[in-house]
Amino acid sequence: MNTKRMIKQSTLSFIVFTTLANTSVFAEDSTFANVCSDCHAGGFKGWVSGAPNINKKNKWDEFLNRHTAEEMKEIVVNGLSDHKRKGGCKTCSKDDIEASVDYMLALVSQ
Ligand code: HEC
Repeated sequence: MNTKRMIKQSTLSFIVFTTLANTSVFAEDSTFANVCSDCHAGGFKGWVSGAPNINKKNKWDEFLNRHTAEEMKEIVVNGLSDHKRKGGCKTCSKDDIEASVDYMLALVSQ
């Protein structure tokens, strides 16, 4: 790849990134705020449950190494032994949950 093209591409990804940062991905996700943050943003429930904290990126390494984003969505939507189905949210749709996983992953993989 030539240099000019590389510069173009990185400028483009910068613009895409900053646009996303100002809109969808980084705008506070309401499902995250109402449901997931109970356990995933530290605090008592986070400590009791042992959920990986979004403020501690190193805690996420083992999860990110183990599962892809798609697998994580599957885990959270359907539940798994250590994870309540939809994080325990009965009114959340599959889309809400998938969006909240995207939101969390965007935070921890910055
Ligand atoms: C009651 C506490 C609790 C709530 C609420 C909760 N989680 Fe979790 N979450 C956990 C725990 C505990 C783990 C670690 C499970 C493990 O060790 O395998 C986890 C792990 C995860 C993982 C990593 C899964 C993996 O194995 O790769 C993702 C992604 C995740 N949670 C997303 C969410 C989302 C999105 C929500 C909100 C819809 C949510 N969680 C709500 C406790 C919670």
